[in-house]
Amino acid sequence: MACEKSKILIIGATGYLGKYMVKASVSLGHPTYAYTRPIKPNTDPSKLELHKEYEAMGLTIFQGELDEHEKLVTALRQVDVVVSTLPVPQHLQQLKIINAIKDAGNIKRFIPSEFGDDPERASALPPFEALHENKRVIRRAAEAAGIPYTCVCANSCAAYFVDYLLHPREEREEVVVHGTGEAKGKLASVVFHFWTTNINALVLT
Ligand SMILES: NC(=O)c1ccc[n+]([C@@H]2O[C@H](COP(=O)([O-])OP(=O)(O)OC[C@H]3O[C@@H](n4cnc5c(N)ncnc54)[C@H](OP(=O)(O)O)[C@@H]3O)[C@@H](O)[C@H]2O)c1
Repeated sequence: MACEKSKILIIGATGYLGKYMVKASVSLGHPTYAYTRPIKPNTDPSKLELHKEYEAMGLTIFQGELDEHEKLVTALRQVDVVVSTLPVPQHLQQLKIINAIKDAGNIKRFIPSEFGDDPERASALPPFEALHENKRVIRRAAEAAGIPYTCVCANSCAAYFVDYLLHPREEREEVVVHGTGEAKGKLASVVFHFWTTNINALVLT
């Protein structure tokens, strides 16, 4: 007997990671839903295009703010799993999602917006530690609300940081490599090399 696919709601679906989540969910055959901020006259046209693309893919899109509790609860009642891909400055806004999940009462699993390093196992210096603390706050709130949750600790998504930190498409005459160049890394990741060389620079200065 074919097992029924869980219905997945993605919050932050139009963002960098959210787009991958939407495509993965649809390609795995899950009925997929998005809760996005409302389209307004000044909304970026690329976001409008994305909404059309999502609709063509069969997504159900709910437009609403995270503050619109009843609207959020109504959307949640139609799904089984919630994936949040809200950006870092909005991590604590997930407390509103947790409240709504609690009231909806039907969500089988919540995947909070993490997708980085594990804040229970890694330590960080300020200001990065604040990001870790916010992630812990969300984990504790999910536990206190009795919501089953899974955190995806992906460490660094290399492609993201290659663009973000190294700007490979910018034309430049010179590239500064910090450190002695002797730091070794086994990971097949430019990012790892970047971090090790950068740490060398910090130690040396
Ligand atoms: N480990 C890594 O290398 C790595 C790399 C990238 C991201 N991440 C993680 O992935 C997660 C998502 O990051 P991202 O870069 O994908 O985020 P993003 O693209 O900046 O934003 C995601 C979406 O969140 C919604 N959003 C933005 N501001 C909001 C607000 N004020 N209120 C409500 N919704 C808002 C928007 O969707 P709507 O307009 O549709 O509502 C936006 O498209 C974060 O936890 C981040 O740390 C990890």
